[in-house]
Amino acid sequence: MTDKELIEFAREAYKNAYSPYSRVRVGAAILCNNGKIFTGCNVENASYGLTVCAERVAIYNAIAAGQKQFAKIAITSNQKREFSPCGACRQVLAEFNPRIKVIWRDARGRQKTRQLNQLLPFFFKK
Ligand code: THU
Repeated sequence: MTDKELIEFAREAYKNAYSPYSRVRVGAAILCNNGKIFTGCNVENASYGLTVCAERVAIYNAIAAGQKQFAKIAITSNQKREFSPCGACRQVLAEFNPRIKVIWRDARGRQKTRQLNQLLPFFFKK
């Protein structure tokens, strides 16, 4: 599975975003070590703080299906401005693989890749 292919899964997922408040659509696709892919989109709420990001929806989807080993995650959105996963999502990803490859792409097609431990060094662990 190439990064480009994984981004395409993320792009499909953002079409399902529920984001009437921010109008920001985000999609994420996580690749498991066994080749399976799980996707997520952001889900907002009238009580804004209850919003869940696309990245966490994707990884929780995978966990709920019994997967715990992850190779990479791709994130894309309808925004021209680039953004990488928020701090909360970084922490959740680190729980399962601090070295997961993170790929993000903006609506203009600019793409970046980092290992999670570059995005969240010294993360909290038990
Ligand atoms: N959002 C994500 O889905 N992932 C991120 O990494 C950052 C932000 C969503 C949450 C909210 O629905 C919208 O983007 C604006 O913050």
